[in-house]
Amino acid sequence: MNTKKYTVTAALPYANGPLHLGHVAGVYLPADIFVRFLRMKKEDVVFVCGSDEHGAAITLRAKKEGITPQEIVDKYHGINKKAFADFGISYDIYSRTSNQIHHETAQDYFKTLNDKGSFIQKTTEQYYDQEFNQFLADRYVTGTCPNCKNEGAYGDQCEKCGSDLSPTDLIDPISTLSGKTPILKETSHWFLPMDQHEEWLRTWIKEGTLDGVQQHDPKTWRNQVNGQCMSWIDGGLHARAMTRDLDWGVKVPLENAEGKVLYVWLDAPIGYISATKEWAAENGKNWKDYWTGDTELIHFIGKDNIVFHAIIFPILLKEHGDLILPTNVPAYEFLNLEGDKFSTSRNWAVWLHEYMEENPDKIDELKYVLTAIAPESKDAEFTWKEFQARINNEIADILGNFVNRAIVLTQKYFDAKVPQLNSLEEVDQDVLNQLAEYPEKIETLIRKYKIRETQAEALNLARLGNKYLAETEPWKLAKTDMSRVETIMNIALQITANLTIAFAPFLPQKAKQIAGYLKCGELEWDVFGTSTILPVGHEINTEKPSILIAKIEDSFVDAQVAKLEASKAVGSSFEPQKEAVTFEDFTKMDIRIGEILEAERVPKADKLLKLLVDTGLDKRTIVSGIAEHFAPEDVIGKKVSVLLNLAPRKIRGVESQGMILMAENEEGKLSFVSPTEGFGPGSEVR
Ligand code: 2FM
Ligand code: ZN
Repeated sequence: MNTKKYTVTAALPYANGPLHLGHVAGVYLPADIFVRFLRMKKEDVVFVCGSDEHGAAITLRAKKEGITPQEIVDKYHGINKKAFADFGISYDIYSRTSNQIHHETAQDYFKTLNDKGSFIQKTTEQYYDQEFNQFLADRYVTGTCPNCKNEGAYGDQCEKCGSDLSPTDLIDPISTLSGKTPILKETSHWFLPMDQHEEWLRTWIKEGTLDGVQQHDPKTWRNQVNGQCMSWIDGGLHARAMTRDLDWGVKVPLENAEGKVLYVWLDAPIGYISATKEWAAENGKNWKDYWTGDTELIHFIGKDNIVFHAIIFPILLKEHGDLILPTNVPAYEFLNLEGDKFSTSRNWAVWLHEYMEENPDKIDELKYVLTAIAPESKDAEFTWKEFQARINNEIADILGNFVNRAIVLTQKYFDAKVPQLNSLEEVDQDVLNQLAEYPEKIETLIRKYKIRETQAEALNLARLGNKYLAETEPWKLAKTDMSRVETIMNIALQITANLTIAFAPFLPQKAKQIAGYLKCGELEWDVFGTSTILPVGHEINTEKPSILIAKIEDSFVDAQVAKLEASKAVGSSFEPQKEAVTFEDFTKMDIRIGEILEAERVPKADKLLKLLVDTGLDKRTIVSGIAEHFAPEDVIGKKVSVLLNLAPRKIRGVESQGMILMAENEEGKLSFVSPTEGFGPGSEVR
């Protein structure tokens, strides 16, 4: 019995924002195509993904939106899970790292390694924000990159030059919490002594062997993956802290570890295991079968994740003992958009969920284009003009046109029945020989993760069909030689049937649509390349085929470009519209005009003013984060909008009984939301 299995993972996206086409082209779509291919080959495969819900990416976003980290991850987990499902990324499970099972799995994993002595506990000095009483891990510090002098580098990474940093590497560090220079303070953490793993990693990456046993073929690993790993290893690996002083994350499962959580890059990849466990439990499988033995573990990722998947996680897997290491880490370069980088903060993006809301009828079209331009070996660019050109000139003209001709001519000449195959001429034999080569061509390419080239081969099969019809011209022969027309149309239909197999991983909906015209059902890989799929006399659909791929009009392109430009012009820092609320939700809020009677600073809190506000109902204390914008004396006497029934909360020891509403412009300036003359305290805002 074949026990070989595949565990295919796609990088767990941070649940801190929606997904854009860059993410899709450079991780999720190629992973999905690969998995769909494996399933067609009847391989035993599990495809896992989920939301990465820990780390500074989440807490900083929550701070920016003024909501809790839990609210952030709930919001974006929902949006992203739905976007993937609508787009047809066929995960076996889309989990999340806030799940109980994940916390347990990550904690067990940490304990196992700690018991084995895989970590070293060390006390070091780390940056600390005195105002917020918090250690500043990773992105909580920004400063100047020591390598390229980029002033906006993060404490874990410089996005400009790509170097991997630790907060103490930064020149002129600034806390992202208070905006002040942090101090250094001692703290104790668990470190992974990566330096002790250099030797086996080098052999494993370069030669694909571990303890003398061949694990994978290093030639199938992408150059940039080998390159990045070797440059890291050659530069010398260092011990890296696997825990953080934070209150958001998986708690360190040890005594004396109060206030410490696992480093997000320790917990996230373990999320692949937790997700497999969850899926296995729901499907009567044993998760371990997919993480041990004769299983290929394949991580689809973006290039900024290479070292975590090809160095750090492999160390953790090897230290654990009985788990497999990845056989490949197909990493993608970045996709740019209309001449610029995708940017969430500048709103320069095509958001997947928005595209789908607006174009539910163009899903496979987008898949086609994203695969055709996928940043497999170098950065690539998405433009709406190219989107149009690829769809119109490639799939509409080549695939759509061929399929349409095959169907329509069969309906016209043979009453929608597959005609018989008579004696073959050279041109027929030649086309059948070429057809027979496709399965191997396609399988070889896709197993090397050359997904873009594989799709190009699938299109070549449609080209072959077109060329065959153009050369044989059955519409002319129909007047003189019906026997030839029978043979030609039989072959054309067999090619059409083959196209449903070739395109199934790439354009699953279109493949189904073509199968619908042929009334042939879903075809198995085994028949791919053969010319007897449709039996003689089989009736295909008798109706005129609907358009397989509609051409993209110039007006569509213009509208998309204009939309993008408009979002840029607005500038960006505006948040996208929040999720819809009902009128009932809205009426729950009691907003009224209040008058500020007194104002004073809150000691040791630069941002806060303590206000006494006349609400018309009472006089109450409200703490407001406006001290950096307004002096106490400037606000006294102001009439402002106040949310009265916000549950009271203690802010810096002062109970705040409501919230002053503020408008914020693109530059981050604040203004009160004030009524015109004649509206005093107590007036309702609705
Ligand atoms: O770069 C990212 O978006 C990370 N959230 C990827 C994590 S991949 C895995 F380790 F979970
Ligand atoms: Zn840099």
